[in-house]
Amino acid sequence: MKKQILALLAASALTVSATAMAGGDAAAGKAKAATCAGCHGPTGTSLAPIYPNLKGQKAAYIVKQLKAFKDGSRKDPTMNAMAKPLSDADMANIAAYFSSLK
Ligand code: HEC
Repeated sequence: MKKQILALLAASALTVSATAMAGGDAAAGKAKAATCAGCHGPTGTSLAPIYPNLKGQKAAYIVKQLKAFKDGSRKDPTMNAMAKPLSDADMANIAAYFSSLK
């Protein structure tokens, strides 16, 4: 019985950390987003109309666009280059950061 409870606790702890990873870490994303600030602004309000605002956009949307820029299915020479070095975790973290801003 005791063993079963422990196993249950371990399983739920794993689920929680997996969810946190999928949701992204906004603090890590903020640090990583320093290179994005020159165009999209430090808080996702872009510096010029040609750059889309990122604040408040849905995290899933931001991740999807970054993946598309990285694999070239969405074409923009600047963003293709910006997305190339980003890992899946970087994208999730950056998306968590910008989506958390209003
Ligand atoms: C030199 C300027 C520049 C920098 C730096 C830059 N971007 Fe962009 N970004 C753009 C432009 C221009 C577009 C619009 C591209 C298009 O029209 O398809 C864009 C589009 C995007 C989009 C799509 C937004 C939408 O509404 O569809 C996302 C997401 C994005 N950038 C994220 C980032 C992230 C994350 C970084 C940092 C790693 C970054 N960008 C750095 C110029 C930049």
